[in-house]
Amino acid sequence: MSSASSPAPSNATSADATPPLLDIRDLRLDFMKDGRALRAVDGVSLRLGAGEALCLVGESGCGKSVTALSIARLVPSPPARYAGGEIRVNGSDVLKMSPRELRAIRGGVVSYIFQEPGSSLNPVFRVGAQILESLKLHRPEAANEEEVLRLLRLVGIPAPESRLRDYPHQLSGGMQQRIMIAMALASHPRLLVADEPTTALDVTIQAQIIELLRELRRQIQMSLLLITHNLGIVGDLADRVAVMYAGQIVELAPSHTLLSRPLHPYTRALMNSVPKLKGQVGRLSAIPGNVPNLGSFPEGCRFHPRCPQARPDCSTQSTQLLEVEPSHWVRCPYWST
Ligand SMILES: Nc1ncnc2c1ncn2[C@@H]1O[C@H](COP(=O)(O)OP(=O)(O)OP(=O)(O)O)[C@@H](O)[C@H]1O
Ligand SMILES: [Mg+2]
Repeated sequence: MSSASSPAPSNATSADATPPLLDIRDLRLDFMKDGRALRAVDGVSLRLGAGEALCLVGESGCGKSVTALSIARLVPSPPARYAGGEIRVNGSDVLKMSPRELRAIRGGVVSYIFQEPGSSLNPVFRVGAQILESLKLHRPEAANEEEVLRLLRLVGIPAPESRLRDYPHQLSGGMQQRIMIAMALASHPRLLVADEPTTALDVTIQAQIIELLRELRRQIQMSLLLITHNLGIVGDLADRVAVMYAGQIVELAPSHTLLSRPLHPYTRALMNSVPKLKGQVGRLSAIPGNVPNLGSFPEGCRFHPRCPQARPDCSTQSTQLLEVEPSHWVRCPYWST
């Protein structure tokens, strides 16, 4: 068992000369409120290799979006303040980048899609024109109608020629999300960050968008960081899963390992709260209690007040992320019980 506390497993080995596409090391981020620094991300380390897909899961307020937005330094600052750590993209730390270097990273290397496609598209411009704008910004050499049509086909828009001149409100939510994905892909990003991309959509459309992301990964050499509340879609899409709780990663493992052998009590509780889409209908058990607010994380293990397996020393003993078997990291000293 290793006692290292900085998980960095990815497909890359230490002998690789090229740095991983994304290498987050011990990231700490605070939100300033009434003169107090409230820690929202506390010592997160994550690596993502080229073409790899990682899912970030956890309940609302655990710090998933803030971690993901930090990759392109998109968390508004103030109120945010980076308190430590590094976020290396292709070897360069975005926390030390000039505004010009950051602009090159945003869109050019890392693209984002968010939950609400309707609110991200501009209602007064036709969708073809919006994709063209994205091309002009990031790949001016390809800013033409032919490329717009290719992108629309890539994201599965039927009869794209007739859709070019539609306004966003003329499209369904699922089609709007496909347009958002086309805009995000226009720059040929190396990393696509999808933050709850299907939450606002109905179930059948959700499945179509997940299928589209999976197909795009097959066609394009692109890494994917997918944020979701829903562990049910993880196995279909991700190579690895990181589970976040109260600003920290509590478990990190290859998807099949995590789904078949979750070790952290929080991950287990999260899995019990996932509706079973396949097989028999399981009882849905919500996790009792709430995610603690920033600034009032409990001492010891942050999950202990809600943990069914908590022992007396869980409220005092601080927890470390330990590699309990190759590539499987768990932040619970009692993981084996
Ligand atoms: N701009 C902000 N100012 C102050 N606090 C913030 C800000 N953005 C996020 N937070 C706080 O940081 C914590 C983490 O938020 P984050 O949005 O990353 O959660 P999340 O895991 O993405 O949740 P959800 O699943 O609801 O999207 C929360 O307590 C949130 O209230
Ligand atoms: Mg979020």
